[in-house]
Amino acid sequence: MTKFFSFAAVGLFSVAIVGGALAQQSENPAVKARKSLMSLYAFNISQLGAMAKGEAEYNAEVAAAAANNLATLSKVDQSAMWPAGTDNVADPSSRALPAIWENFADVGAKGQAFAEAAAAMQAAAGQDLDALKAAMGPLGGACSACHKAYRAPKE
Ligand code: HEC
Repeated sequence: MTKFFSFAAVGLFSVAIVGGALAQQSENPAVKARKSLMSLYAFNISQLGAMAKGEAEYNAEVAAAAANNLATLSKVDQSAMWPAGTDNVADPSSRALPAIWENFADVGAKGQAFAEAAAAMQAAAGQDLDALKAAMGPLGGACSACHKAYRAPKE
């Protein structure tokens, strides 16, 4: 009897572990898509940021490529990437605050501000380092304005 009980207990325990692991991995494809898009934003802006900060030598071609990518990425239609029920309360793998779904117009405006800053960077990045630096503030500011309002801080 004691033996049976301990087997059963071990069985339950491992089910709980597997269940937990699955819950963490299972992600809505829309959440995955928007996070992937954000990662592409981050990769490209980090190349520009490194040059702006002097951590990488200015290279007009590399800068123009990153800025072109950002401008292109800013035009991706995200309308299917933010379905209802994918905020960070409903889906713990997300950091998207519920406020997004109550303020779609403002989120759109912040997305538009980002697209405009990305277009300005696209015009500037290949010119010279000073032009790149001048476009960096508004671009980084557009990312953080949206994150401040609509992204939960990292836990
Ligand atoms: C219009 C709003 C908005 C703009 C503009 C925006 N973001 Fe985000 N970003 C979000 C939200 C909301 C999340 C959380 C998404 C989620 O976890 O579901 C996020 C998440 C991220 C993440 C984390 C991705 C992950 O794997 O969890 C990175 C990195 C990121 N953004 C970078 C950027 C960069 C860089 C820019 C500007 C070039 C930018 N974002 C512009 C709203 C925005």
